[in-house]
Amino acid sequence: MSKSDKKHNHLIGIDIGGTGIKGGIVDLKKGKLVGDRVRIDTPQPAAPEPVAGVVAQIVEELNSRDDAPSKDLPIGITFPGIIQHGVCHSAANVDKSWIDFEIDKFFTEHLDRPVEVINDADAAGLAEVRYGAGKGVDGTVLVITLGTGIGSAFVFNGQLVPNAELGHLEIDGFDAETKASAVAREREGIGWEDYSVRLQRYFSHVEFLFSPELFIVGGGISKRADEYLPRLKLRTPIVPAELKNEAGIVGAALQVGIHHKLHK
Ligand code: BGC
Repeated sequence: MSKSDKKHNHLIGIDIGGTGIKGGIVDLKKGKLVGDRVRIDTPQPAAPEPVAGVVAQIVEELNSRDDAPSKDLPIGITFPGIIQHGVCHSAANVDKSWIDFEIDKFFTEHLDRPVEVINDADAAGLAEVRYGAGKGVDGTVLVITLGTGIGSAFVFNGQLVPNAELGHLEIDGFDAETKASAVAREREGIGWEDYSVRLQRYFSHVEFLFSPELFIVGGGISKRADEYLPRLKLRTPIVPAELKNEAGIVGAALQVGIHHKLHK
């Protein structure tokens, strides 16, 4: 690590999603991207080899910049599945070949530098409690991302309890994300009022189970929070995420930075 790396606290974060793979150089002191974000469409089918090809392309582009961290520094990557001990254990909305796949090892070999993969919602949650809407909040904070599926991050006193899959709670006989995700709303062509009814059912159930101090709503749809948050009646405050579409990238870099003791 060079002096400049220490000073700047820059690490690369990559966010793998169902439709796009995004990456950026993250300033961990500020929790912000340095320079533009790079985005490339997720290859279909999103199997390991083609996805790794796109990730490598993004890393190469970021490496070519003046602000890039040294090439021996680790990279954080998000993935929309359960990630435990470097192994992926689920793939609800992506290619099934990732299930029981040694994901950390695979990307480490592909990129030829240390890589740590984290669940996408966990990364967004970490970023929000460190730099965004959950900063300084004690007790339980639940970050719920509404996208292709429903992701969740369970944070207690600033510590992540990883892999809480609250998008897959069974509610009224359905896997919750099949009814209340942003994509479910689009697929069924329902308006904000009807969608709010579904969100009400979802969030009141989660509130009953966990009594959090705060709900933070993430995912692309958090930009339209005015359309549905004011309609929800909960005893828990509920606010939109602040880091918007950068939360995954920032959280991935933060997680790997903390693990490698490059950041506190
Ligand atoms: C997956 C989660 C993921 C979420 C958001 C769910 O279907 O099971 O692991 O965090 O989608 O992408």
